[in-house]
Amino acid sequence: MSPLLDKLGRPLQDLRISVTDRCNFRCRYCMPKEVFGKDFTFMPRNKLLSFEEIERITKIFVKLGVKKIRLTGGEPLLRKDLPMLIEKLANISGLDDIALTTNASLLERMAAKLKQAGLKRVNVSLDALDIKTFQSISDTAHKNETVLRGIDKAMQVGLGVKVNMVVKKGMNDDRIVPMASYFKKRGITLRFIEFMDVGQSNGWDYSKVISKKELLATLSKHFELESVDANDIGQVAKRYRYRGTKTEVGFITSVSEPFCSTCTRMRIAADGKLYKCLFATEGFDLRSLLRSGLNDETIQSAIVSTWRERVDRYSDERTEESAKNRKKIAMSYIGG
Ligand code: GTP
Ligand code: 5AD
Ligand code: SF4
Ligand code: SF4
Repeated sequence: MSPLLDKLGRPLQDLRISVTDRCNFRCRYCMPKEVFGKDFTFMPRNKLLSFEEIERITKIFVKLGVKKIRLTGGEPLLRKDLPMLIEKLANISGLDDIALTTNASLLERMAAKLKQAGLKRVNVSLDALDIKTFQSISDTAHKNETVLRGIDKAMQVGLGVKVNMVVKKGMNDDRIVPMASYFKKRGITLRFIEFMDVGQSNGWDYSKVISKKELLATLSKHFELESVDANDIGQVAKRYRYRGTKTEVGFITSVSEPFCSTCTRMRIAADGKLYKCLFATEGFDLRSLLRSGLNDETIQSAIVSTWRERVDRYSDERTEESAKNRKKIAMSYIGG
């Protein structure tokens, strides 16, 4: 089958599915308490796609060429019985990769079940190793030790593990080298993420971004790095390796070196809205289609048309103006 291409010639290859808009952390750059406080209304259960609906839609996406699924949130491990969903997805033939992005607060107790259900990899969000910085960024009483134990357990049971560190000036830029040293020693890939202008409430501006260039300059004072060629299109991270080791370090450069020209991703929010870009302003209501008794062929055609019309390349076109004034969807809703 020839690949399904969008208007800019990009193939549809991966799908990120948010399974809940809730999270037990309140990272200041993602779900600040002032906005996501006690009174915030999260999605009611009947608005979330059911596991059966997610399975059905995934099968359709796989028919269209999707090979890689990533489950996101909010915090996906808060979704009840998540391993049951993973088991359903793992049984779909043609799917090569099922991964999860998590804050790892519940990973220690769930890793074995996730692996058994067919999960291949986890990406763990962790922005600092010391408890003070960790708790201040994530605005939680959870301990970073819990996250580290979650990572250990995931590795023990045979899940692939990478760590994501969002770097923001004044927040944790003094933690870059300690994080790199720690994960280098442990042989775990750490990816530095440039702070992005997602959502409406994270106080983003250019001056808070630490670019890949600056990160590399800092790291180069302590480590010898060599670049690693990308092994397929659609990868978001620029990869490097600590010379003389097999351990990699990556940079996700949505601000300084956008990767829209190779963006092969669709996103489904927890309420079943389909988005063509992390920064899209409107989604397509898949849940209504799924619940209106239409057959798979009709739903498939709707997805095909949506992808064929796609011209989104927000990060390529980002300006100070668009970053400030465009109405954007919350990261916890669309799933990163
Ligand atoms: P791998 O398959 O392991 O490479 O995962 P991933 O990096 O695609 O997913 P992950 O959830 O770990 O995302 C890491 C960071 O990249 C997060 O900050 C995401 O928001 C960001 N990211 C992922 N995909 C895109 C994208 O298409 N556009 C932008 N701008 N950022 C993205
Ligand atoms: N900029 C960059 N990355 C972010 N994430 C959440 N908010 C932002 C932001 N404003 C990251 C999380 C997680 C991933 C899904 O997105 O830390 O690793
Ligand atoms: Fe939760 Fe992840 Fe957002 Fe932090 S970045 S509030 S852990 S969803
Ligand atoms: Fe893809 Fe949009 Fe991110 Fe560009 S900004 S890489 S089009 S999701």
